[in-house]
Amino acid sequence: MKYVYEYAPGLSREELLSRSLDTMVKLIDLTQALAAAHDLNSIMEIVRHGARDLTGADGATYVLREGDFCFYADEDAIQPLWKGSRFPMRDCVSGWAMEHHQTVVIPDIYKDDRVPHAAYEPTFVRSMAVVPIRSDNPLGAIGCYWSAQHEASPFQVRLLQILANTAAIAMENIHYELELASKAGLLEKAFESTLLSISRMIDLRDAYTSGHQRRVGLIARHIGESLGYLPDHCQALYWAGIVHDVGKIAIPAEILSKPARLTEIEFKLIQGHPETGYEILRDVDMPFPIADIVRQHHERLDGSGYPQGLSGTKILQEAQILAVADVFEAMVSHRPYRPALGYEASLSELQAHRGTCYDAQSVDALVCLVRDGFTLPD
Ligand SMILES: [Fe+2]
Repeated sequence: MKYVYEYAPGLSREELLSRSLDTMVKLIDLTQALAAAHDLNSIMEIVRHGARDLTGADGATYVLREGDFCFYADEDAIQPLWKGSRFPMRDCVSGWAMEHHQTVVIPDIYKDDRVPHAAYEPTFVRSMAVVPIRSDNPLGAIGCYWSAQHEASPFQVRLLQILANTAAIAMENIHYELELASKAGLLEKAFESTLLSISRMIDLRDAYTSGHQRRVGLIARHIGESLGYLPDHCQALYWAGIVHDVGKIAIPAEILSKPARLTEIEFKLIQGHPETGYEILRDVDMPFPIADIVRQHHERLDGSGYPQGLSGTKILQEAQILAVADVFEAMVSHRPYRPALGYEASLSELQAHRGTCYDAQSVDALVCLVRDGFTLPD
């Protein structure tokens, strides 16, 4: 209560309590807003408004430390101050507050040697209070300015310090979030590179279907997007696509690229590739069941597929999407034993088995994609 009394002398006890409660509510609101902020601009906007609102100051600045310089990144004031300017640390009060890890209260700027008077003469500022953002190794400073002589009270200073401490935590959170996102992005890139390398190994063994898996991945991702799948889920469809034939690694290359009709034994060998793919991928830790999707990409809704002869909803939705993408890519591509079918003929073939062999929604989505101009890369 001591601080409240200092801040607003002459008020009744009830008025002081009411004002105190009001200030606490504002602080809680500001803390919640800062906790929810996900970028620096939002933090600065919350702080510059909050600093003026809490102290009744005529202006507030948000200063960032940039090496040996103070960058006046944001401000909220009755007249322009220094937004966008940089000053050497030793030439401004914010720099002094950061270097000394101390709050600065100056009732009259023209009676304090720490103030570069020339920089203040064009402004309305007559008095100020500056608090460092984070006392240990400050990230910046919050400045409050008044147009008249005014000695910021301990209560006002305390409010600014609480605001600065909360802003520091919010800035640190953003830093960690960016760091985590960057590390996650690098890991995802490394993971995708590995899958693409595996994909190319299969391409090398069968020149006729080179690029097939990558294109199937692209089609599957597009179908997923059309069906409203979330971005991570669409990415998983792409990954499943680029490795869906990895099991062919176990099939002799001469069978894979045989330009004539396969014997029954050869066909049985080919039919084993989804299961082999599953065996290769099942221990890879992935957020989506990519091994199962790969295992089921030759299953058909009516149970006529392989290797397990699954039917209907027993087949994963993602595997049904992959099946449509796989069949379409194969049909529109040239093979040594038959010419490419063309987009329209391939879609007609899929539509002829829509809902019996192939998932109706996926076929419809692909038809719409092609009608809208979707074409496959080489
Ligand atoms: Fe396959």
